[in-house]
Amino acid sequence: VKVTFVSSDGTRREVETAEGETAREAALFNDVPGIDGDCGGVCACATCHVHVDPGWIDTVGRLKEGEAEAELLQFAEGANEYSRLACQIPMEAAMEGLVLHVPAQQY
Ligand code: FES
Repeated sequence: VKVTFVSSDGTRREVETAEGETAREAALFNDVPGIDGDCGGVCACATCHVHVDPGWIDTVGRLKEGEAEAELLQFAEGANEYSRLACQIPMEAAMEGLVLHVPAQQY
């Protein structure tokens, strides 16, 4: 499943991932800068914040109010309606070509 990470400076990096791998793992395994994933992918640090490309948000799904992911992200720099934590996005075949925007900073 191909995913493209777009940095804040516009640099695009397309990486190949396996189904079931998370977008955080896809970024870390491929040295995509800007995704730290400090907590190891357990939805506790919010350093894997990404903005899902608006055209993909319905496929990926939005934050659900009241869930841990939404609670963490409400304090994240630049969070908006397209925000997700990359560690909470397991790759699926339907996400082929997914585009994720990486924020300039993770705090
Ligand atoms: Fe920590 Fe995603 S890696 S919240």
